[in-house]
Amino acid sequence: MKTSFKLALLGVLAFSLLSACKKSPQPPADRGRPEASAVRWTIGMSQCNLGEPWRVQMNLDIEKAAGEHPEIKVIFKDAQNDSLKQRSQIEEFINAGVDLIIVSPKEAAPLTPPIAAAYQKGIPVIVLDRRVLGDQYTCFIGADNKRIGRAAGKWIVEKLGGKGNVVELKGLMTSTPGQDRNSGFREGIRGSDIQIIFEADMKWLEPAARQEMESALARFQKIDLVYAHNDPGAHGAYLAARAAGREKDILFVGIDALPHEGQVYVKQGVLAASFEYPTGGREAIETAMKILNGGKVDKEITLSSRVFTAENIDRGGDWLGED
Ligand code: FRU
Repeated sequence: MKTSFKLALLGVLAFSLLSACKKSPQPPADRGRPEASAVRWTIGMSQCNLGEPWRVQMNLDIEKAAGEHPEIKVIFKDAQNDSLKQRSQIEEFINAGVDLIIVSPKEAAPLTPPIAAAYQKGIPVIVLDRRVLGDQYTCFIGADNKRIGRAAGKWIVEKLGGKGNVVELKGLMTSTPGQDRNSGFREGIRGSDIQIIFEADMKWLEPAARQEMESALARFQKIDLVYAHNDPGAHGAYLAARAAGREKDILFVGIDALPHEGQVYVKQGVLAASFEYPTGGREAIETAMKILNGGKVDKEITLSSRVFTAENIDRGGDWLGED
């Protein structure tokens, strides 16, 4: 072979090798992940359960916001609605030496000691949505449940013309949103002729709400409205009323107003109103970044919320005013 031909052949070979390398896809597992060396901080996130759409959305909001920061990695744990399991998750995070903990606790009392322990060890802790007891944490982020309850109470008084029979389906009463949505609501209806004819703890769960509503329907002929502490609860009550052929006689009001859940129920006319309860997932990551970068954050970050009704849903609801 002539030398010039050999050289040309070598050139062609080298070129095709190079372009083959360029084209070869990344291994799928590595796609979109930050380079190992880019991760500076690990955040442990303990979610009290993933059985409810609102909590799935919170994790998605956290994941999305965290995706904008290649210097952090979030380890998610699901406590499956078990406070003991959630306690051990916090302890595991402490032992693993994470740089920051985000926790949305199931119940206040059982989660207080491990969160305080992490905080005292110098691990910053962001408590999301449900509170713990005392002040041994770095920052609490959530909407004002008392205010939401109060706004719901006032809205209901107006809607019912000041009087009527109301069923209250409460969220887990060992969790702070349940307590606040109850006490706020009672403040909101104070001075009116609204009667709470039936109340029960449905523990935030749709099937439990449906069952409690079946009892209420069996006991009371005249029910004007159901106030449920979350949208799954209001929907469970609606299903019970529909099964009894009474859904048209009753109004249903819930809390959460997820775009793909409560807001859809309002559009469909299933709920008369839903009060927004933002997940705080994005704010948790923004706050975590400030803390990890050595900045100061407020002890309390209060998120605002809107009310959605048939009248205002097409223009994006109305913000709750000062009260
Ligand atoms: C989900 C949920 C929401 C509610 C929140 C209160 O677990 O029940 O529906 O708004 O928790 O903490």
